[in-house]
Amino acid sequence: MNTRIIAVANQKGGVGKTTTAVSMAACLGENHYSTLLVDLDPQGNATSALGQEKLTGGSVYNTLMGGTSLLEAIRPTGYPNLDLVPSELDLAAAELHVAKLENYLLRLRQTLHPIRESGRYRVVLVDCPPSLGILTMNALAAADSVLIPLQCEYFALEGLTVITGMVQKLRDAGANPSLVIEGIVMTMYDGRTNLSQQVVSDVRSHYGAAVFETVVPRTVRLGEAPSFGKPITVYDSGSLGALAYRQLSDELICRIEARMTAESPTPAVPQSTVISHTSDTTGTMPG
Ligand SMILES: Nc1ncnc2c1ncn2[C@@H]1O[C@H](COP(=O)(O)OP(=O)(O)OP(=O)(O)O)[C@@H](O)[C@H]1O
Ligand SMILES: [Mg+2]
Repeated sequence: MNTRIIAVANQKGGVGKTTTAVSMAACLGENHYSTLLVDLDPQGNATSALGQEKLTGGSVYNTLMGGTSLLEAIRPTGYPNLDLVPSELDLAAAELHVAKLENYLLRLRQTLHPIRESGRYRVVLVDCPPSLGILTMNALAAADSVLIPLQCEYFALEGLTVITGMVQKLRDAGANPSLVIEGIVMTMYDGRTNLSQQVVSDVRSHYGAAVFETVVPRTVRLGEAPSFGKPITVYDSGSLGALAYRQLSDELICRIEARMTAESPTPAVPQSTVISHTSDTTGTMPG
């Protein structure tokens, strides 16, 4: 089974990275996609949003430093087809310590290698901290693609050029030549405001089909779910937020499967379909 490693990243804080990573992971699991969520943020919000404790020595930290195998840090969440590598506070120290190691950018890539080889998961989602520091750079160097949550607010586009520029740099520098943008997801959309509508329209006009059709609304239930330690699909399964993330995960699955078909030696769908779809989502960004 091919494993797709997706970094959920945006250097800007509070844009919906963790909400998107946790909700998508739960939806993929619901969809029988075996999924691993790696909490790479020392804040540990994804860990607590799934009702799990941060555990000293139980995160990705030891493995980044060359210690235990990441397979040992995997914990079941109790939600269908969804496992977690939790965070711990010491992950903040990893920023400092990993930087001193050889191949410091490729540490997470090496760490995830046995997981990819094991074929145990269809998707590995990596929830990144709000910076372009060593941890996020490791995630971008390890991933097949990056999913960028973007809050519907003023200056959204400016922040986007920073992360897309970094993706381009990693490709050009050879750290991850095949890294692509999986998609941009607009979050916290408030249809009552002109601002939200304007931001979505601006982002779509610049980034076209790289932007997911699904727009995640700002809802009270999505804001509440983490404090109950439950993904939105469990906290309020019929809510607008749950429906939006289910629709988004369907879109993601379509993108993943289209790519896999395109990469396979004997395409099962007409070549023209593959080309038109992949050319939309290769992450070749303007500007
Ligand atoms: N669609 C939404 N509707 C309502 N509240 C939301 C929504 N998405 C996220 N939130 C809330 O906004 C806050 C920030 O979201 P989240 O933690 O997902 O962002 P983040 O990008 O991971 O933040 P950080 O950069 O600190 O890691 C959280 O309190 C979360 O519950
Ligand atoms: Mg977060």
